[in-house]
Amino acid sequence: MADENITHRSDDGLLKRRNLEGIRPLLITIDGPAGAGKTTISRELSDLLGYRYLDTGALYRGVALKFKQFGVSLEDADGLSRLLQRLEFKLKIVDSGMRLICNDTDITDAIRMPEISMLASAVSAKPVVRDFLMEIQRNIGRQKSIVAEGRDMGTVVFPDADIKFFLNASLKTRALRRFNEHLGVSTQSLEEVETEMHHRDTNDSTRILAPLKPAPEAHIIDSTQLNPHQVVEKMLTIIIDYNSR
Ligand code: DC
Repeated sequence: MADENITHRSDDGLLKRRNLEGIRPLLITIDGPAGAGKTTISRELSDLLGYRYLDTGALYRGVALKFKQFGVSLEDADGLSRLLQRLEFKLKIVDSGMRLICNDTDITDAIRMPEISMLASAVSAKPVVRDFLMEIQRNIGRQKSIVAEGRDMGTVVFPDADIKFFLNASLKTRALRRFNEHLGVSTQSLEEVETEMHHRDTNDSTRILAPLKPAPEAHIIDSTQLNPHQVVEKMLTIIIDYNSR
């Protein structure tokens, strides 16, 4: 099942087979559309390398959640700027991944609600939001030893990243993964998930600012027929090769 493929955690066997000691502190970016497996893969990879993991989609979702809670209109640029000035995000790394704290409240679970996905995509097209989050992301990335996932990591936020990946999969596969992930949490049908995902892909890849697209030098991996282990194996081969140069 697609969700089994997408929810496993680190595998000691993989770690033992690969000699990852001596990998330098690198900045690795993983971009791609929703449901391509970025989060699972980024966590897996950062675990194996002993790196930190940065989920930048969570930041856009955090802004979207606050935007909704405060009832700001999408067209109200001043209201949006005022709201952003009042937001303080903190990322806390815990065993189970990254927790997002906004003004001392843990919003990690709230931002995963399906209705926040479309809103995050809409607010992410606003220049004031992208500028605000750019600084936060670059401050974190400056420390290296990081796997950063998002839509514009390799193209805009970290153009000098050491290694860039672009992870993709067919729309049907991505929708099925997301549907399985949200079973019991959301009432959306598979068709609804697929339609919404298609809509979000279009929004994210056609916006003027930082559209979703691979950096010219990105390694493109299609995960449609691959499980996370296989994707991570491919990435490790590229990382080890880069490190030995
Ligand atoms: O990765 P995600 O599904 O959690 O991201 C939610 C939305 O945030 C996505 O539809 C577009 C936006 N986003 C972005 O514009 N740039 C990023 N680096 C990450 C996410």
